[in-house]
Amino acid sequence: MTRYDLILRNADIATVGDRYRADIGVREGRICAIAQGLEGSAAHEIDAGGRLVTPGGVDGHCHFDQPTSDGSRFADDFYTGTRSAACGGTTTVLPFAAQQKGHSVQAAVDDYHRRAEGKAVIDYAFHLIVSDATRDVTQRELPALIEKGYTSFKIYMTYDDLKLDDRQVIEVLATARRHGAMTMVHAENADCIAWLTEQLLDAGLTAPRYHTSSRPMAVEREATHRAIALAELVDTPILIVHVSGREAVEQIHWARGRGLPIHAETCPQYLFLSAEDLGLDHEDPMHGARCICSPPPRDKANQPFIWNALASGLFTIVSSDHAPFNMQGADGKRVAGENASFDRIPNGIPGVETRLPLLMSEGVLAGRLDIHRFVELTATNPARLYGLYPRKGTIAVGSDADFVVWDQFGEGEEKTIANGMLHHAADYTPYEGMKLRAWPGITVSRGRVVWQDGEFRAEPGSGQFLPCLRPRAPNAGNPLDKWL
Ligand code: URP
Ligand code: ZN
Ligand code: ZN
Repeated sequence: MTRYDLILRNADIATVGDRYRADIGVREGRICAIAQGLEGSAAHEIDAGGRLVTPGGVDGHCHFDQPTSDGSRFADDFYTGTRSAACGGTTTVLPFAAQQKGHSVQAAVDDYHRRAEGKAVIDYAFHLIVSDATRDVTQRELPALIEKGYTSFKIYMTYDDLKLDDRQVIEVLATARRHGAMTMVHAENADCIAWLTEQLLDAGLTAPRYHTSSRPMAVEREATHRAIALAELVDTPILIVHVSGREAVEQIHWARGRGLPIHAETCPQYLFLSAEDLGLDHEDPMHGARCICSPPPRDKANQPFIWNALASGLFTIVSSDHAPFNMQGADGKRVAGENASFDRIPNGIPGVETRLPLLMSEGVLAGRLDIHRFVELTATNPARLYGLYPRKGTIAVGSDADFVVWDQFGEGEEKTIANGMLHHAADYTPYEGMKLRAWPGITVSRGRVVWQDGEFRAEPGSGQFLPCLRPRAPNAGNPLDKWL
């Protein structure tokens, strides 16, 4: 009789292409059989009881224990960050090894491995943030790192300590093209933000809510268009990260219409938060800082555009952009003091644990997204985009045994989000009080049950580093051919 380590019985399995009832047999961390009435026994059997089972989430954009330049500290390290991910149904995360200007990218990678090792509880890969695109970096370091399994870069068009100018963006894109890597672009126009910030501060408009005024949609729209144009020039795909609203969506739609390979990511904050959240009346004048992230949440009228673009296929992935800073204490949102102006408040909000439940509840169960699209956006596409598919991102024989068994709640029995029930180390969630109709009941990561019945069960350090494959074939051709 066949012996497995784990059998999940009576699963209602949903992948990008299929939905069917079956049992899943797992050995040595991999799925080795899927069948109806699977024969055999296992050290551990779980009856899913007909509950929905989806691939473990792949969060293609989150920040854990990333060094900062303003004295602030991310609330989550690799232990608390990956624990939170696992309890929210995510089994693979891709945070960022961030190059500091004047330093090598390899130094950032070495440092980041030290931060992850012995702490991560689920599997992880690294994107590279390229903040100093010297010739040595683009010609030597990045190609060598791609060979070693770091096959995606993030570049910034804003933030003084990270931003590249257009020429440097082009150099990075050309490297990505030549070596088959993927480039993620943070698209906001730095000079526009600097000018608007100066005007606001001169006028004494310093409260958290003016963060939105300093980064209006036009700033994101312009940079999105410019990033698309630069990618077209170099003839290589890019992913525009954290797309926040209608006008950036329109730019991507326009690019796709021209046949350009422009991918796009959005995040729950642009579906569930709005500019109003930064300006709510509250006894704490810093209250709005909870929702400060960049690009900022837009006015509510933008939310249906993001939902529609998710359903229609315009977006490639949904990530959390988990970037948690505590509201209390001196190393989080208040790093520059009690009444710091908006431009000195760290950007970013927590969300690695709530990403999948929010999207399942308000997307799938509310009828805005079909289940296959949910799987595609949250697991399969991020795995494909970053060279982890089919090991990650699907339920198939040969893939890692990463899956989520969903609990669903009827009307009147919804689960109310409260920060106390989450497993990150941040002292708030911007989604406090939201009522959800679904939550992961069980998370399995490489065959290990890491979350079940409200209990988290993985050892620090049990997550593995994942070298990524090249998402595309290298292209040694001359990009100029297109323009001659
Ligand atoms: O405000 C944000 N999004 N913070 C995280 C860093 C980034 O740009 O993604
Ligand atoms: Zn960004
Ligand atoms: Zn981010």
